[in-house]
Amino acid sequence: MHTTIFHVLTLFPEMIVQGLSPSIIGRAWEKNIISLNTVNIRDYTADRHGKVDDYPYGGGAGMLMQAQPVYDAHTAVTGGRKVRTIYVTPQGTPFTQAKAQELALEDELVFLCGHYEGIDERVLEEIVTDYISIGDYVLTGGELPAMVMIDAIARLIPGVLGNDISAEEESFYNDLLEYPQYSRPEVWHEKKVPEILLSGNHRKVTEWRLEQAKQRTAERRPDLYEKYQEKQLLIQRLARHKRNNIHMMESLARGCAEVLYCDIMTVNHLSAGNPAVSGQYPAEVKHSVTEKHSESGKSAVPEKFPTKGKCPVPEKRITEISLLLYHRSCKTCMAIAADIASGEAIAEKLPEDTELVIVSDPVLKELLTQHHYRVMDSYIQMLYTRKEPLPVRHKDIYPLTMEHFPYVCRWYCNDGKSVPGINDAYVRERIQAGAMYGAFAEGRQVGFVGIHSEGSLGMLFVEGAFRGQGIASSLEACVVNRMLEKGWTPYGHISAGNTASEKLQEKLGFYKAEKTFWWLEKTLANST
Ligand code: ADE
Repeated sequence: MHTTIFHVLTLFPEMIVQGLSPSIIGRAWEKNIISLNTVNIRDYTADRHGKVDDYPYGGGAGMLMQAQPVYDAHTAVTGGRKVRTIYVTPQGTPFTQAKAQELALEDELVFLCGHYEGIDERVLEEIVTDYISIGDYVLTGGELPAMVMIDAIARLIPGVLGNDISAEEESFYNDLLEYPQYSRPEVWHEKKVPEILLSGNHRKVTEWRLEQAKQRTAERRPDLYEKYQEKQLLIQRLARHKRNNIHMMESLARGCAEVLYCDIMTVNHLSAGNPAVSGQYPAEVKHSVTEKHSESGKSAVPEKFPTKGKCPVPEKRITEISLLLYHRSCKTCMAIAADIASGEAIAEKLPEDTELVIVSDPVLKELLTQHHYRVMDSYIQMLYTRKEPLPVRHKDIYPLTMEHFPYVCRWYCNDGKSVPGINDAYVRERIQAGAMYGAFAEGRQVGFVGIHSEGSLGMLFVEGAFRGQGIASSLEACVVNRMLEKGWTPYGHISAGNTASEKLQEKLGFYKAEKTFWWLEKTLANST
């Protein structure tokens, strides 16, 4: 079992242990999913009287923690290895959910809690990798902020919340504040629970909650709401080519990807063969629309075409988007590029640690294969646009737990089925995230299906002896229904040439994108 280790360097270790032990975090510690290692800085002082602080040079109020005990405590924990070390300080960058997600990917973290008026700058320079604040106010010490951060990070680690309350569940509402919630009794102080919540109609409940979340965010956090609206605008633009863009639309809507590059341009298709035009402008002329997301900002041609004389007449205005999305949690990028310049800009902006890039433009494919990426396989993208749940004929389908891990690995990782990016660690993470379902027959497991970390439906498998009985379509239907309940649009990538899966999804009502999708992986040349 993999354990994430949180080391806390502090003058009050008991505060950390007592603060975190009784909670869900304490349970995860007992189960060895995380480990909490508190280190008393005072134990490392070279001072005979156990002193760890002294007056600041140059004068001023208060005392400073000295470099030596902090440095020695840190070295005792890391043994000189490079471990991400966070100094919790009001002078740090603000702690956010995105930061929590980023830190949750580390195997080991050190938190340094200051006291008094701070810590000698020289030791900070040597050991600290991140300066982080939990807000614009000053506390008496770093222990409470460290606990806040550990709590927020640990709950994102697979297995900490348990399969039943996966952190993934919340992602749809990530950009908005939570909707109001109600529990029993149905009427309290003459206030009735909203009717819709008693209806049993999951889709309607999801819609109502989204509406409530929007209203609440607009009222209480207009700043967040503005960001949400910007994102919605981008999703609407992508929706003009929904079949081809559903993977990006869903990543944005579910709140699991960051926008690293975005350029939205309006393309004016000009009258072909207009003699007045020839030699004046290229067949397509672009300019950026006024657009918050636009990176390039400037127009390539005047905002408005002159309407008289030798000027071309735009026939049709088409919006073209160049976009780079990054799923930090699975080091996966998705990109589309309207032209070579945007493709080059995207290649520049790919984060160093990107392991997989999903592209659907030949231009990007070509560019990235020159940038140390290799085509792993080509795929077709399928999406399910109906809102109605699908019938599930095979009834014995349940969410998988770690008990089923060896079965999935046997068939999926070791069965000679070379599936790019799929290995034991990935399967474990998916099961712990509550993203895999199994089919059971004759008292044992006979197949499975799952939701990939970047959001697509996949990993479908049914044992040969149990095929042809509708188990595969039931597994797919089960995941489709689960996604619909969450307000998602189900989509998946099928290996080009896998006609059996393509036919199965078509039968279930999936549509096929026009574009081909390529999955690119980093080659060794770039990871050195
Ligand atoms: N130490 C004292 N106040 C703090 C804050 N607001 N954030 C992080 N560390 C702190």
